[in-house]
Amino acid sequence: MGVRFIFEGFMANYDFNGKVALVTGACGGIGKATAAQLLANGASVVLADINAQALEKCRLDLGSLGRSTCITYDAAKPEDADRAIETCSTVFGGLDFLIPAAGIYRDMPIADMSDDQWRETIGVNLDGIFYICRRAIPVLRSGGAVVNITSIAAHMGGSMGHGHYGAAKGGVLTFTRSLARELGPNIRANAVSPGVIETAMVQDMVDVRGAEILKQTPLQRFGQAHEIASVVAFLCSDASGFITGEAIHVNGGFYMGG
Ligand SMILES: NC(=O)c1ccc[n+]([C@@H]2O[C@H](COP(=O)([O-])OP(=O)(O)OC[C@H]3O[C@@H](n4cnc5c(N)ncnc54)[C@H](O)[C@@H]3O)[C@@H](O)[C@H]2O)c1
Repeated sequence: MGVRFIFEGFMANYDFNGKVALVTGACGGIGKATAAQLLANGASVVLADINAQALEKCRLDLGSLGRSTCITYDAAKPEDADRAIETCSTVFGGLDFLIPAAGIYRDMPIADMSDDQWRETIGVNLDGIFYICRRAIPVLRSGGAVVNITSIAAHMGGSMGHGHYGAAKGGVLTFTRSLARELGPNIRANAVSPGVIETAMVQDMVDVRGAEILKQTPLQRFGQAHEIASVVAFLCSDASGFITGEAIHVNGGFYMGG
């Protein structure tokens, strides 16, 4: 299973030898594919996720690709962001690439949303980005990059059925632009805005709305996690050296077509 996972996707080719990356949500579809991509290109990777059991499996699955360590981490807790950044320095001696991919997605109309439900999603998906990015700033080395994972929900004309998620991802988009302004000239900050990518997060949504979404998607399929990972790797690499403050859409044309 591990080996199948690792090699079933396209692997972009970059030289990340000597580089250190922190990937949060590392056990999820996109986080794990991103960690695999960075490891396969020579980076050392700190894998951070709230799911301790899945972390151990993730580290074993990725073990043959390169040097990694894992840390249990809740994106909504500032003290966990402190520990995650500290781990990069103590285990691997620094930080070059930050990819906060931890996230939650709950479908519910705003009319039914409790204050706690609102806060939970904003806490993980938006506060979590601030906590980890702010703490990474003094540690990120020159030439480094932040790649935030936002969503097509940040761009579409109104996120129906998940207003808290859309608000958080819209916040991540504009926060990334502010970060890019403040981190230049030696560190870049960009975002990737996935459309529907086949991971556990959107399984229920795909079951309900999948056919309707495909009708509006020129490429007539959903995305795969490695198709986000390869764009993240591009945005970490020197190949994107003059790109900062941007969000790259990866959605098979759904955004344009919708
Ligand atoms: N899959 C999609 O279609 C899609 C579309 C747009 C954006 N995204 C974004 O991509 C990112 C990755 O999503 P995915 O599709 O891989 O989802 P996923 O559910 O497969 O992975 C999410 C990971 O985040 C972890 N996580 C959840 N809460 C956490 C917390 N509080 N602290 C730390 N880790 C936590 C989970 O344990 C899981 O490993 C998310 O930010 C998501 O919003 C996904």
